[in-house]
Amino acid sequence: MNTIQTGGTTKVEIYQEILPQIESLIRGEPDLTANLANISAVLKAAFGWLWVGFYLADHNRRELVLGPFQGPPACTRIPYGHGVCGQAWEKGTTIVVEDVNRHPDHIACSSLSQSEIVVPVWDKTRRLAAVLDADAETVGCFDGTDAHYLGRLAEIITRRHD
Ligand code: SME
Repeated sequence: MNTIQTGGTTKVEIYQEILPQIESLIRGEPDLTANLANISAVLKAAFGWLWVGFYLADHNRRELVLGPFQGPPACTRIPYGHGVCGQAWEKGTTIVVEDVNRHPDHIACSSLSQSEIVVPVWDKTRRLAAVLDADAETVGCFDGTDAHYLGRLAEIITRRHD
């Protein structure tokens, strides 16, 4: 898909442009992996973050497993409760890390990462399906605006894959 338009200049404008585009992009495709791959590509193109993608919940092993992403290679498995991703699963909430160097439980997949946001993606029974993880090369890249709009994106994914 090379038709993603990102003419917005502010973070809010970009989110407001890409969320409807993502909705229409995934509307006709039932495969979760395909949709998460395209969503990762749209977010990477729109924001230029260092890394953005998904870890999928493996409930039998109580681990997150690396899923579709854009960016440098990343760690493949994260136990429940570990790292920012595992904590977002354990707490059931979005976590914004302003400075990963000041977050004791952060798992560094790249030394370039300076800030991070992790957003839970639920299935229709409110069981964790995945987490959306984004990393940036600047401190304080993510805030409540990202938490709000990426949370809406997570809801779009839940609705599409119920
Ligand atoms: N920083 C994450 C690990 C995943 S990478 O950032 C892609 C964490 O602490 O869980």
